[in-house]
Amino acid sequence: NWTATSILDEQVALIRKQIGSAKVLCGLSGGVDSAVAAALVQRAVGDQLTCVFVNHGLLRQGEAEQVELDFVASTGAKLYVANEQDRFLNALAGVSDPETKRKIIGREFIRAFEEAERAIMAEAALDGEEIKFLVQGTLYPDVVESGGGEGAANIKSHHNVGGLPEDLRFELVEPLRALFKDEVRAVGAELGLPAEIVGRQPFPGPGLGIRIVGEITGERLELLRKADAIARAELTAAGLDNEVWQMPVVLLADVRSVGVMGDGRTYGHPIVLRPVSSEDAMTADWSRLPYDLLAKISNRITNEVEGVNRVVLDVTSKPPGTIEWE
Ligand code: XMP
Repeated sequence: NWTATSILDEQVALIRKQIGSAKVLCGLSGGVDSAVAAALVQRAVGDQLTCVFVNHGLLRQGEAEQVELDFVASTGAKLYVANEQDRFLNALAGVSDPETKRKIIGREFIRAFEEAERAIMAEAALDGEEIKFLVQGTLYPDVVESGGGEGAANIKSHHNVGGLPEDLRFELVEPLRALFKDEVRAVGAELGLPAEIVGRQPFPGPGLGIRIVGEITGERLELLRKADAIARAELTAAGLDNEVWQMPVVLLADVRSVGVMGDGRTYGHPIVLRPVSSEDAMTADWSRLPYDLLAKISNRITNEVEGVNRVVLDVTSKPPGTIEWE
């Protein structure tokens, strides 16, 4: 029998006890777990916390702003932003193989995070302080599935902020270890985090990088961001956010098909909609979205996103398909 308030009070007390007057670091991904973990620690020890946001340029429209503006405004947390968009684009140039992409993104992420960490440590050292703790947004299901919830580890190389290499320099602070996702959302709401962060659907660490089938370029990312924003807005407007576990929007950058616009021929890329219903992402079924909604999304994307002339629907369950295309 829990309430968000009692969990919050209890965790704040535990965090204060663990951290004392030391300094602490937390990586933010834009996702729910890291945001709630960070907000809890901020509530407990205030300015002793520094949050780090590595912007890899693979987030969806508005998500970097959610971290840089909304998270900061609602928590008052200190945030160090590493703008690493170019670094990731350069490292990914010419790469189409999904596993290679995943490994590059994971590797560059760790490097970028460690650089940020060194910069923050150097600054803290000027004040004669040392950073002793690292916050991780580990949830109870991750703990149970030990190995960090990587049930699909042999299928795909998962990457996320919670999966940073265990750095012996730091002691871990894991305030969400006893909680399930719905409890985490409730605590986040109680902490005053905005609904867009607290209600966010699962989004993979490698982000849009694994939703472009083919090479990742800045232009393709821009195109996918537009299509994804339209699909998400329409799903929300239809009131279906809760029925759908997540809806990856995928750009088939290596495929082109012939279409017609006005009286001209087009030769553009398809966008795939991949709405799924699921309990835990281990298995999933494709969501039977209303035809009118699908029509609206398709019309808007083909009209508003230059370079896309076709929208297709993925009707594969998991297994045999995975949720993400890569
Ligand atoms: P798949 O594609 O394996 O995805 O059916 C299952 C769930 O995991 C998410 N996913 C990831 N999450 N890092 C993450 O944090 C990753 O590398 C990653 N790859 C897939 C996916 O969005 C779905 O919810």
